[in-house]
Amino acid sequence: MHNLFSEGESRIVRPPSTALVIFGASGDLTHRKLLPALYNLYCDDYLPVNFLIIGASRTRLSDQDFRDSARESVASYSRRELDSEKWAGFSKNMYYQPTDASKESDISELGKRIEALCQGCHRDFNYLYYLATAPRFFAPISANLKKAGLVEDPEQGMRRTSLIVEKPFGHDLESARELNAKLRQNFAESQIFRIDHYLGKETVQNILVFRFANGIFEPLWNNKYVDHIQISFAESIGVGSRASYFDRTGILRDVVQNHLFQILSLLCIEPPISLSDPDSIRDEKVKVLRSVRRLNKEEVAARVVRAQYDKGYINGEPVPGYLQEDGINSGSRAETYVAMRIEVDNWRWSGVPIYIRAGKRLPRRITEITVFFKRPPGMLFRGRQVYDLDYNVLAIQVQPEEGISLRISAKPPGPRLRVEPVIMNFTYGSSFGVPSPEAYERLLLDAMKGDATLFTRDDEIEEAWGILTPVLEVWKQDDAIPLYRYQAGSWGPLEADALLTASGHAWRKL
Ligand code: BG6
Repeated sequence: MHNLFSEGESRIVRPPSTALVIFGASGDLTHRKLLPALYNLYCDDYLPVNFLIIGASRTRLSDQDFRDSARESVASYSRRELDSEKWAGFSKNMYYQPTDASKESDISELGKRIEALCQGCHRDFNYLYYLATAPRFFAPISANLKKAGLVEDPEQGMRRTSLIVEKPFGHDLESARELNAKLRQNFAESQIFRIDHYLGKETVQNILVFRFANGIFEPLWNNKYVDHIQISFAESIGVGSRASYFDRTGILRDVVQNHLFQILSLLCIEPPISLSDPDSIRDEKVKVLRSVRRLNKEEVAARVVRAQYDKGYINGEPVPGYLQEDGINSGSRAETYVAMRIEVDNWRWSGVPIYIRAGKRLPRRITEITVFFKRPPGMLFRGRQVYDLDYNVLAIQVQPEEGISLRISAKPPGPRLRVEPVIMNFTYGSSFGVPSPEAYERLLLDAMKGDATLFTRDDEIEEAWGILTPVLEVWKQDDAIPLYRYQAGSWGPLEADALLTASGHAWRKL
């Protein structure tokens, strides 16, 4: 029988020589996520034997300044402690070139610097450009790279030249299409790696292994046996230092369009032909997104609940309301909470409600997928103090306690026939005993290898926006659609509960 798992790597193969150029090198993402991830890859001996990291941004820094600030960031944010000897080996490959990426001349200077550094190593390097900048620079940087002769034809070029693009990728369907078109004027689709860090999380990758490497679940994974599904994303933090970004964006765009729809599509896909060919999986994911029923105006009003937090308490500490946060417009209508009911209208999932909720300033940080299986008929237990039999619930906790649990019904010891729920549990910590790598580690490594499986394809991004753009438009046009309130530190507005009670469901307690 065809085995999806037979084609994988049997050992870690280091990527070929790579010059990684980070645009936005003095920014938050570079310092909090990218540099710590690269340092950890280095410590694990996963980086190419020959690698260069070239920081580029407008700030005037020397190579040494860049290394010094990177050292501080790695010391603060790396999952493993900074080791001086390792740091010395890692940081000697780091360079910095002050660059205003909107200026052609600066990019061509940068090109010369990259070339000189690579020649100094007497190796053929692939070039990987990471756009960790504000989105308005994505298209101009890609055009300037092309003009400077720094993008090669993927079929005929001497080296692989690729582009990693951060989120947000557009703010609606039209802007995403426009950005795709602009990037494709300079890079082929096979050279573009659109990042969604949720795909780098171990637990998200495990969805495919769980579904397709276990014979017992896949037969049940359909509308015959699944009653409904919940995908929940909760954070206790507010908007922090990203107020102006968040206020323009709202949580639907910030996490649902990307992270939660990626989870949804992996959860619902048909078995791909192969796990080794990036397009097999991505083809199937696109089919899921294409099958999600588009909502009309009345359905948006009935099936999507948006809300904003008022002041409240988190862990016993008072926190301000959203409108009182620094940097937020006083009349802002940005939603900090959203709950929606969607349906994947295909043969496998038709009729299974999928509830998605995401919120800031909820009681705790947790991301969880919960599959509720249909209840068995209860007549055998009637008259025995057993009323409704519980759902069997499969919960995949993406974070913070990475793992999977299954709720089953069991008879407690004793002379009476009773039924009680019990939980079977698997946690990564106790089963594998090694800390999971950060999502960015896996994604940077894959991009260096040229493996796009865990990156979002152009049509996938557009389908995801295609689902949400009608919602955003209705919200924009119709002021009568309420923006409900909830207290910081609560689980969101009561109106979000009503979305489920209509079908006899309830949100899982997290
Ligand atoms: C980011 C969002 O993409 O994901 C943030 O912009 C959010 O608002 C973050 O906090 C959540 O990521 P994680 O990995 O902490 O769940």
